[in-house]
Amino acid sequence: MIKKGIILAGGKGTRMSPLTKAVNKQLLPIYDKPLIFYPLSILMLANIKDILIIVNKGQLHQYKKIIPDGKNLGIKISYLEQDKPRGLPDAFVIGKKFIGKENVAMILGDNFFYGQNLTSKLIKNTRLKKGARVVLHKVTKPDLFGVAKINKNNKIISIKEKPKKFLSDLAITGLYFFDNNVVKFAEKLKPSKRGEVEIVDLLNIYRLKKQLTADLIGRGGAWLDTGSIEDFYKTSAFVSAIENRQGFKIACLEEVSLNKKWISKKEIKKSIKFYGNCEYSSYLRKLIN
Ligand code: DAU
Repeated sequence: MIKKGIILAGGKGTRMSPLTKAVNKQLLPIYDKPLIFYPLSILMLANIKDILIIVNKGQLHQYKKIIPDGKNLGIKISYLEQDKPRGLPDAFVIGKKFIGKENVAMILGDNFFYGQNLTSKLIKNTRLKKGARVVLHKVTKPDLFGVAKINKNNKIISIKEKPKKFLSDLAITGLYFFDNNVVKFAEKLKPSKRGEVEIVDLLNIYRLKKQLTADLIGRGGAWLDTGSIEDFYKTSAFVSAIENRQGFKIACLEEVSLNKKWISKKEIKKSIKFYGNCEYSSYLRKLIN
């Protein structure tokens, strides 16, 4: 079972300036909560309780105000800084000590997942023992993402980052599961022409060893990445529509923990105090009454 997870939540956020001049992108709102709540809830749903959040240098204090250490959620959260955006695989170099001898999951801080059976899918993927696994989702604009071409048996034949020429319409989402070799492989990577180490180069190492597998999110599942201001609005509208229709919140962290029995009413009460008098607290109150 993979028990450790990393959220990569740095990045300059230049595409969303001026919004991101003072605040990190992952702390901006998706409807009624900060973006970071959504990928964090995904790791928690996967039963991952030991989580490292990698943030931009100088922005740690912003995160600690909203997610101090995970105690109120019955989990352990630690933080490390990335001094500049060196690329996604840099997370495994920064997180080397955190990972230790174990396997690890990584989710990008700006990725949003939603759908039925998602939790069981996630838990299944944490059973990975050897190799690496990516999660794929069909998109209309594959040139905006890393993409993977697969054969009939869902085996990955090739992968490419933002291909100009059509390769496949299956995007590689920002959720990855790796065995412990990831640290060693990430340390060996050289920066690409754009000056970053590339996630596809890392995945290709596994692919060439025939150790890269894929899990597909079907059409009943939603995956959105929030790279632009437009994406923030669209994702917010999606969350608002679901939450207001059903009365359930998406990515209410305390609710995930309570359902998993990681916390009791006592911690929920503490959280209500922490958030203060707001709609999120009213929702928490309803959970324990
Ligand atoms: O969202 C899925 C896509 O994410 C994948 O399909 C691509 O293969 C993958 O390269 C990535 O593409 P993006 O263009 O979305 O990556 P971006 O540089 O925007 O970074 C994604 C998140 O990771 C963002 O929240 C910032 C953070 N980040 C990024 C880099 C490069 C860091 O914290 N540090 C970094 O060094």
